[in-house]
Amino acid sequence: MIQTMTASILVVDDEPAIQDILTWSLAAEGYRVATAGSGEEALTRVGEQDFDVIVTDIVMPGLNGLDVLERLRVLNPRASVIVMTAYAALETAIVALRRGACDYLEKPFSVDVLKERVQRLLQYRETIWKDGLVRRAVQPPSAGLTLVGESDAIRSVREQIALAARTSSSVLITGESGVGKDLVARAVHAASSRHDGSFVPVNCGAIPEMLLESQLFGHVRGAFTTAVQANPGLFVTASHGTLYLDEIGELPLQLQVKLLRVIEDKCILPASDTTPVPVDTRIIASTNRDLDREVEAGRFREDLFYRLNVVHLTVPPLRERRGDIPILVDHLVDRLNAKLGTRYLGVERDVLWSLSGRPWRGNVRELENVLERTMVLGSGDLLSLRDLSPDQGSPHGEPPQDLRGAVRRFERQHLMDVLAATQSDKRKAARVLGISLASLYRKLRGETVDAPEQPN
Ligand SMILES: Nc1ncnc2c1ncn2[C@@H]1O[C@H](COP(=O)(O)OP(=O)(O)OP(=O)(O)O)[C@@H](O)[C@H]1O
Ligand SMILES: [Mg+2]
Repeated sequence: MIQTMTASILVVDDEPAIQDILTWSLAAEGYRVATAGSGEEALTRVGEQDFDVIVTDIVMPGLNGLDVLERLRVLNPRASVIVMTAYAALETAIVALRRGACDYLEKPFSVDVLKERVQRLLQYRETIWKDGLVRRAVQPPSAGLTLVGESDAIRSVREQIALAARTSSSVLITGESGVGKDLVARAVHAASSRHDGSFVPVNCGAIPEMLLESQLFGHVRGAFTTAVQANPGLFVTASHGTLYLDEIGELPLQLQVKLLRVIEDKCILPASDTTPVPVDTRIIASTNRDLDREVEAGRFREDLFYRLNVVHLTVPPLRERRGDIPILVDHLVDRLNAKLGTRYLGVERDVLWSLSGRPWRGNVRELENVLERTMVLGSGDLLSLRDLSPDQGSPHGEPPQDLRGAVRRFERQHLMDVLAATQSDKRKAARVLGISLASLYRKLRGETVDAPEQPN
């Protein structure tokens, strides 16, 4: 637990005068204060020790505060960051908050305001710490919905979520199984003005057609033999909120017609009733099927497809954003600790290497399962390679791959082997591999250097 008075604070500002004032006034409150005169220096400091709070300027020569913020979240995810912005730079402040800052101060501000904000932040962290929700403390209130990841792909998904949340348009989320489609749907709802309304998930593939029809659109009492009670239907339940139609590709054609009608008319007609009920329901649909192809094959109505596909969000597979694996592991270990009642601090570095090289056909859900099994069987503070049994590969097996995919896989495995042999000394590894350090980093982040080829 953090003791408010002995909290450690890093002040980052390129102007020595400001550095001095902030340092002096925070130290006078009893905090341990360190300073950095640039973004680069801040990262070095953070590499040396963990801070509870980081107060950073946004505009600095070299690495600016926003860049620093991003890297800090990886290096010192427990730190709470307050950014200092120039007057009228509200947009920058918003970007900073989106990227994980907890608060911002508009310059010029008085030191009293700074002290008060720091104290409030520390108290907030302390309360959360007491509740055992360690890392959630530094995340926004919708922490359960945090879409973890700093890859360009996930960042772009986050930006699109924010845009989609501003409207009530239908959203179609596509992506392989386990990539996080449910999480994205919930995040759109939570960030929208409908967040006080209900978020109602329905799995279109898991419910028999007739039941699904009455569940969605409701029925009056006695509409059919087992309809003992009237049921308004989930469309009505989700009115002023969001109806999440999971696995929309499984929706039977007859219900597709009905859904289209409700979307167009904005009212429903419960079975055996003649009075239309107006509904104001936002629809988010998701699928791991290729809906375009389903439309072509006549299994999915084209008109409905266009109605649902007003905003299209694609969540990329985990193997295309391997750089997110370390931060996801961190997040999932926390989450699983809470679920399993364990207290692992994380994983050893070679476990990370091993996990980074896997194909992850089942995406984040598979990663979560692998970690869960490892945590159940493991011991100690950190999960080691011994805990991670070698048969925890992809349960989906290896599908046939094209040459490019196979070469990439081999390359990745080879990188991991060389890194293991050099005890993760990346300079040495790059030398052994005969490539530059920069290109080793690029490869480790999962960036593909070659342009993707369009299959004919
Ligand atoms: N970026 C992420 N950050 C944190 N957790 C994630 C992320 N992506 C996925 N998860 C977690 O992985 C698990 C699977 O995600 P989710 O259920 O959203 O996938 P899905 O795409 O809906 O899968 P399916 O197609 O099988 O329904 C969940 O526990 C989810 O919380
Ligand atoms: Mg899902």
